[in-house]
Amino acid sequence: MTAVTTQKTAKYRSDYRTPVFTIDSIHLDFHLHDTATRVVAVMQVRRLSAGALELDGEHLQLKRVAIDGQPLASTDYEVSATQLRIAQVPDNFELTIETEVNPSENSALEGLYKSGGAYCTQCEAEGFRRITYYLDRPDVLAVFTTTVRADADAYPYLLSNGNLQSKGKTENGEHYATWHDPHPKPAYLFALVAGDFDRLTDHYVTMEGREVLLELFVDKGNLHRADYAMQSLKKAMKWDEERFGLAYDLERYMIVAVDFFNMGAMENKGLNIFNSKYVLADNATATDWDFIHVESVIGHEYFHNWTGNRITCRDWFQLSLKEGLTVFRDQEFSSDLGSRAVHRIDAIRVMRSHQFNEDASPMAHPIRPDKVVEMNNFYTVTVYNKGAEVIRMLHTLLGEGGFQEGMQLYRQRHDGQAVTCEDFVAAMEAANATDLTQFRRWYSQAGTPLVSIREDYDSEQHVLKLTVEQQTPATAGQKDKQPVVIPLLLSLYSPQGERLTVEHEQLQRHESGSELWVCTEASATLELTNIEQKPVIAWLENFSAPVKLERDVDLEVYTTLLAHAEQEVTRWEAAQQMYLHVLLGAVREQTQLVLPTQLADSLRKVLHAPLDDALKALIFTPPSAEELIEYFSENVPLAAIATAVEDLRGQIALALSADFAEIYSGLSADEHDLSAAAMAARAMQNRCLYYLAKAKPEDYAAKVLTQAAQGQSMTLQQAALEFAVHLQLPDYQRALAEFASQWQATPLVMDKWFAAQASAPHAETVERVTELLDHPKFTLRNPNRVYALVATFCRNSISFHRADGQGYQFVLGIIKQLNTLNPQVASRLITPFLQWRRFDSKRQQMLKDCLIELQGIDNLASDLAEKVESALAQ
Ligand code: TRP
Ligand code: ZN
Repeated sequence: MTAVTTQKTAKYRSDYRTPVFTIDSIHLDFHLHDTATRVVAVMQVRRLSAGALELDGEHLQLKRVAIDGQPLASTDYEVSATQLRIAQVPDNFELTIETEVNPSENSALEGLYKSGGAYCTQCEAEGFRRITYYLDRPDVLAVFTTTVRADADAYPYLLSNGNLQSKGKTENGEHYATWHDPHPKPAYLFALVAGDFDRLTDHYVTMEGREVLLELFVDKGNLHRADYAMQSLKKAMKWDEERFGLAYDLERYMIVAVDFFNMGAMENKGLNIFNSKYVLADNATATDWDFIHVESVIGHEYFHNWTGNRITCRDWFQLSLKEGLTVFRDQEFSSDLGSRAVHRIDAIRVMRSHQFNEDASPMAHPIRPDKVVEMNNFYTVTVYNKGAEVIRMLHTLLGEGGFQEGMQLYRQRHDGQAVTCEDFVAAMEAANATDLTQFRRWYSQAGTPLVSIREDYDSEQHVLKLTVEQQTPATAGQKDKQPVVIPLLLSLYSPQGERLTVEHEQLQRHESGSELWVCTEASATLELTNIEQKPVIAWLENFSAPVKLERDVDLEVYTTLLAHAEQEVTRWEAAQQMYLHVLLGAVREQTQLVLPTQLADSLRKVLHAPLDDALKALIFTPPSAEELIEYFSENVPLAAIATAVEDLRGQIALALSADFAEIYSGLSADEHDLSAAAMAARAMQNRCLYYLAKAKPEDYAAKVLTQAAQGQSMTLQQAALEFAVHLQLPDYQRALAEFASQWQATPLVMDKWFAAQASAPHAETVERVTELLDHPKFTLRNPNRVYALVATFCRNSISFHRADGQGYQFVLGIIKQLNTLNPQVASRLITPFLQWRRFDSKRQQMLKDCLIELQGIDNLASDLAEKVESALAQ
């Protein structure tokens, strides 16, 4: 199979048409072969309106077409690189199509491919068309029956969606299995796996009393690393019953972990396929961060069974219908099981450091895009994470009770259907007898709204006047923006930190504990009377809307909130605002950063306060250079940002070194303990050690290097390795070498080794990552390796933007190679180039030249072409 790429043309949401035909059922028969797999598809096709039958198909060899058993002559149909067209067909008929595909040559990892020794599939969004000619769109729902045939010794497990119907031996040492999925589904949810695995089984009894067989398949020798994923699955099944009233609906639930996978995981009906990164985890090789992500991704894919599979998307413009909602659900799952504040802070950081950046880029799009060239380009932080924030705002506005009423109505109305975001909002609206007309703008407008706040206090009249103004900047193709509904959660405190209760018809006491003010106009005001003293206000608590807040206050306000706010997220936010104040001050005024005594004192108090250690660790993580860059729309002062970020960390380290030493010596956690408290203690241990090594390398370097080289707990080992490399402690090379020799046989741990080097904020990182391309454990064919080395480097702004442009050249070279090998992965690496207009003129020219060079490539994949065109467009 050659990687001939046909340039795709843009599709528009407004052009949606119902399909001309639908397919009610399909029987697939796979005869697996490394280079020549045969696929026979027998489909029951039904006409819905007048027209020819046009089936999608790519990278296929067509062997046979028959209608109602009658073979067609080659003059009866037309085949192009993307389509099989049959002009004349009956209204109801059986269509048989035989195709041949080459799984071994499939390096794009879409359709049927080989991951290590196993066959597997990835069909979302439009991969099924690489298996057979089909109506490959999510609004065609068919009942699938699948037979898989392969060599019995090499592929003892033959899996597909649904329930196992039959299995047995055939000739030539082969065997077969037939699976039947009773739930009609779109082709993107189809899956097949064949291979030799270790298998972990368990059972779950649903709230309706049905017993479900749970099976987890991992590469041989990895069984001991599968347990946490299985526990997480059972927790997810129970949580969805308890919080959403949703139970599982098949006899078995299977999860297969594969090493070669473009994304995190895939929710195929009854047969999830996972990147092994989100399944395999044990204490020696996984960090606490890894365990938390295993739990949340297992949850995410499981929750899709209702939000995505039972109720699916009408068309791909509606992707956020399932992804935004399912991310919201997985966030709530993690928050109900662990620390709500810590999970919320993680989500806020993703929004600020990645989604705001996307919203300000030439690829900015609404959570429900209007125009798409390559669908794979729209699995974005906007559709997923901002989509989840939009669902969260509905939850804030309607409350948990109202939200669940809406969910129930949504399910009653649409179970078994392919629907739109509009259908979801309409169900929420009807169940709550409310008007969400203006709220819908969150689905249609791109860009991050800028909200500015004014507080005017009249000390004689004791009146406090609050003014909130909002404005959304223009984005590509969307100049004029209208005001959106902003649910503002806020609390008032006295300057001494006591919570003040206030009464106003526009303020509701919200179930979160904050006051809720719903702002709908470009400018809104509110007057509070009988306010004794000018209060301290916590605005946008819990990040209650995905907006940027502008507010001009002094450190005093945040000092009070950091010390006294009732909500943990508010305290964290106060610290972040204090850091930003100091960082941006130094960058904008081009002065040396000085840590104000007031900030040092507040931080010292936090360090010794009886707070959750996980929260403390987050409070002691000031904004990164990447987050700061978002405060500059042009001429980003990269060098000044890098200096300020380092200076702030250095001065915190020096000012509090004795305190860190004291706290550090009092912390301990059993490395096998995965409780929230033990994870919190490790997080704080790592934070302290970082500051101590930064302040006193002569005293702590040895400790860091030993911890980096010797593994007891990967959470401690990885952090130490990163500190050693990033702080360039003496002898850090030796720590790297020892780590590599310990873990060379464990790819997921070697990814941490690659990433620790690619994220080092030094000029020489460019040379180092270039050398690492030749490391025996590196390969461009495995997306995890590429993400660990190259995507990590792309996020390392300081090294990527090195003044001589060598960082750009390094990534450009990789993108060019991946253009033919794996365009989906290539397209994820181009992100930092798209922002070329925001840098100084020298860098602008170099970045632009890279984009122009890509534009000139003959067979540029549509994934890259779409982004390059939008970045270069005026
Ligand atoms: N639906 C998957 C998820 O969110 C996303 C996904 C997995 C995907 N693999 C993909 C999307 C490949 C596009 C291409 O959970
Ligand atoms: Zn998803």
